[in-house]
Amino acid sequence: MTVQIAPSMLAADFARLADEAAAVADVADWLHIDVMDGHFVPNLTIGLPVVSALLKHAALPLDCHLMIADPDRWAPEYAAAGARNVTIHAEAAAAPVRTLRMIRSAGARAGLAVNPGTPIEPYADLLGEVDMLLVMTVEPGFGGQGFLDLVLPKVRRARQLVARHGGEVWLQVDGGVTHETIGRCAEAGADVFVAGTAVFGAEDPAAAVEHLKAAAESAQAAARHHAGGEVS
Ligand code: DX5
Ligand code: ZN
Repeated sequence: MTVQIAPSMLAADFARLADEAAAVADVADWLHIDVMDGHFVPNLTIGLPVVSALLKHAALPLDCHLMIADPDRWAPEYAAAGARNVTIHAEAAAAPVRTLRMIRSAGARAGLAVNPGTPIEPYADLLGEVDMLLVMTVEPGFGGQGFLDLVLPKVRRARQLVARHGGEVWLQVDGGVTHETIGRCAEAGADVFVAGTAVFGAEDPAAAVEHLKAAAESAQAAARHHAGGEVS
C-alpha cells in the first residue's frame, strides 16, 4: 500500500501541540499520538482530554497508540472521540477480539501492536479483525531511542502473513525510524512509518517528513523491482 508517514507528537512541544501539528499538516498523512499511562510503560504522556482537544485543531487524522495497561476499558472511547486509528497492545489486552471490534464499531480503524519480544504469529488468526499491525522497533515508553534491527525479520514475517491473509492491513513500524533506518523498514515490508525525533527534532519538520517519505518510497520501489513485482 502507499507509504504513510505519521509524525509522533511525543517529540513535539507539548505546550504548542496545535502549532506543531499544523507544521506537518500539508505533507504528513496521520498524526501519531502516544498515550502512556505510567503502568504499561514507565512514562506518562497524554490521555483522552488532550486527544479530544487536539481533534478540534488538527487537520490530519489522529493515529492513537495506546501504551496503557487497560486498553479494553479505554480504546473504544478514543474511537468514539474521533480518532481515525486506535491501536492496542497485544501484551495488554485481555480480550483483544472484543476490543478491536468495539474500536471498529465506534467508527475507527483497529490496530494491534506487538513489542520487540512478542511474536506476531500467535495473532495470525486475528488479521481479519485489524486494519493495522504495529511492529514496535524499540521497547515502548520513550522517544529518541535507537532502532532495533533485530525486529526486521518479524516485519518481514508480518508482511508475509498479511499477504497470505489477502485483506488490506497496514503494517506500521514505530521507534527509531530515521532517514537512515526507514529504507530497511520499507524493504522489509512496512508501509506506515512513525517518526518522532526525526521529524520534530529537525529544523524543518515538514521537509523532514518529505525526506522520510521519499526514502521509504524509493526503498519500496527497489524491493518491488528486486522481487520482480509487488512486494506484498
Ligand atoms: C515509543 C513511541 C514512539 C515514539 C517514537 O514508545 O511509541 O511513537 O514517539 O519516537 P522516535 O521516532 O523518536 O523513536
Ligand atoms: Zn508510538
